[in-house]
Amino acid sequence: MKSHTRHIIVTSAVLGVIAIGAGVFAWAGIYNIGADDAHTKPVYSMLQMARERSITARANKLHPPPNLDDAALIRQGAGNYNAMCTGCHLAPGMAETELSKGLYPAPPNLSQADVKDPAHHFWVIKHGIKASGMPAWGKSMSDDYIWNMVAFLKELPKLNAEQYKAIVASSGGHSHGGGETMPHDDGDGDGDHHDGAMEGMHMEGMGTDESKPHAHPAGTPAHDDAAGDHAGMTMEAKPIDESKPHSHAPGTPAHTDNAPTAPAAITKPADDGHDHQH
Ligand code: HEC
Repeated sequence: MKSHTRHIIVTSAVLGVIAIGAGVFAWAGIYNIGADDAHTKPVYSMLQMARERSITARANKLHPPPNLDDAALIRQGAGNYNAMCTGCHLAPGMAETELSKGLYPAPPNLSQADVKDPAHHFWVIKHGIKASGMPAWGKSMSDDYIWNMVAFLKELPKLNAEQYKAIVASSGGHSHGGGETMPHDDGDGDGDHHDGAMEGMHMEGMGTDESKPHAHPAGTPAHDDAAGDHAGMTMEAKPIDESKPHSHAPGTPAHTDNAPTAPAAITKPADDGHDHQH
């Protein structure tokens, strides 16, 4: 047998054994998939490299708009960031949330991270990242609104808590031309309960009726108000007044209604207006 033929046979055999070994390793359930068990260093580096290469290869084809420094765009993006992202990515002066602590890979604290490459951020926001908890916002938001959010993210690390609140207040709230909720009063007498830990989850979802006359804040990209493809995502839970007679979902641990519930792990006291119990 010629030596190079023997070389090919040996290499194929070795590769075959490695592939079978990897298959057995995966099938046997040896690797812990739990989010509370960090990847080993080699696995983490491998995934990190694949993630960066994948994003860069795609983001390099994008052309960021030239006016990302435009104050109107930044302001428009602020309201959406506050409504949809802070539950995972936090904001100046905001404590960690259950989501920011529990997700793995951990969502970066975007109020402390400079935007090195706007196209990279745009791509991640639009397409999300598989098996990480980062959603593909492009399924419900058009490109213009996503660029506005990138414009805001460039400013965010420069803001302190007061400046952050001010720019969110001056923004048009949560608006991206779809079925998102406009600023509203849930009838609990507390119009300002939206800075809770679950803020970023797009919890509301009672769609604005775009067919009725309504105003758009400055910086709102052109869009078709008649497009009605944004309904859904209704996850809103009405607050339960524990003092009134009520029933509990099966599996609710034994507890005394009216008892001042304050288990140690609650990040935010019970003013988040949601049915939130642990
Ligand atoms: C449910 C949690 C969650 C929500 C809500 C969420 N993200 Fe993320 N996001 C993540 C996680 C987790 C990662 C990290 C993924 C990874 O490293 O692979 C991430 C990564 C990112 C990154 C990449 C940062 C970098 O340096 O590479 C950007 C940008 C980002 N998110 C923006 C947003 C914006 C804007 C919103 C709101 C529209 C948002 N995210 C909402 C969980 C979330």
